[in-house]
Amino acid sequence: MSSEQKKIIFSGIQPTGTFTLGNYLGALQNWVKLQDEYRCIYCVVDLHSLTVRQEPKELRENTLSALALLLAVGIDPSKSVLFVQSHQPAHAELNWILNCFVPYGELTRMTQFKDKSAVHQDNINSGLFTYPVLMAADILLYGTDLVPVGADQKQHLELSRNTAIRFNNIYGDLFTVPEPYISKEVGRVMSLQDPSKKMSKSDTNAKSYISVLDKPEAIVKKFKSAVTDSGSEITFGEGKDGINNLLTIYSAVTGLSVAEAESRFAGKGYGDFKLAVGQAVAEHLRPIQEEYARVAADKAYLEQVYKAGAQRAGEMSRRILQKTYKKVGLLV
Ligand code: TYM
Repeated sequence: MSSEQKKIIFSGIQPTGTFTLGNYLGALQNWVKLQDEYRCIYCVVDLHSLTVRQEPKELRENTLSALALLLAVGIDPSKSVLFVQSHQPAHAELNWILNCFVPYGELTRMTQFKDKSAVHQDNINSGLFTYPVLMAADILLYGTDLVPVGADQKQHLELSRNTAIRFNNIYGDLFTVPEPYISKEVGRVMSLQDPSKKMSKSDTNAKSYISVLDKPEAIVKKFKSAVTDSGSEITFGEGKDGINNLLTIYSAVTGLSVAEAESRFAGKGYGDFKLAVGQAVAEHLRPIQEEYARVAADKAYLEQVYKAGAQRAGEMSRRILQKTYKKVGLLV
């Protein structure tokens, strides 16, 4: 299939410190897998990160580190477009237009806004509120068919879809209505300390999440202290959120099915199981960590990748931005 006929994938990740195992299993593993079959566009969404106060030097470092991590997990810039959101002004430009098409009421229903504004009460800024509109701009600029994300982004994707449909209804077909692509198995990786919550790096308890750059000993230690239930059987089931989460993670990093994992641990205790999950995760992340160390040190290569990526992203997005300007009546 020629690259023009392939369906288009777009996704983004915020450069806020290193990625978690949740980011990796919930989204990035799919990003890597989809590269051969689709035209993939992947973006480090630095503008989104500004919705929470950032230390400027740290944000610049984190942006480069995010690029290096994406390369290390297997994003191949010869197959996919990889770039930094702020390097492509079309995102902020379309964001403004779309802002004028998203009802206030729809934004007030976003659970991520409610959660984040509860945590950052000293800085409930307008960007935090309109965050999903910028996300819609990211997606709609490229004629995106599919968006690989974790389950936590589903509501934001619904807003992107509604926005595309609303705009098309007024002005005639322009935007492709994107579909979410969410892994059934690992769409939501849960906290190791409270398996009813998603794993997140903004969690104040560092034992609750695994960073993909955590040292092997730290990974094993965190899994050993993972919260489980009072039972003793290593089987997937109702009311066993902790064990379910660990079985899901184990199966994702080993490639075994959950049923195969269950039979491997039949008759074993939770302690043995938690240790094995920790070791399997550490082993899985080892080559990624090695590749990260190599790529992150090569600043010239990183610059070459993000500059080429911005150029290609610009060529692709300009067309839809121009058409949008025309449709709404701007003088182009
Ligand atoms: P972000 O940076 O919070 O997370 C990046 C990706 O990781 C997924 N993820 C998880 N998946 C499973 N379990 C978890 N515990 C977990 N934690 C995070 C997220 O669902 C996401 O796919 N708003 C987005 C970034 C964004 C974007 C876009 C995504 C901006 N523009 C356009 C898609 C398309 C975000 O903050 O992701």
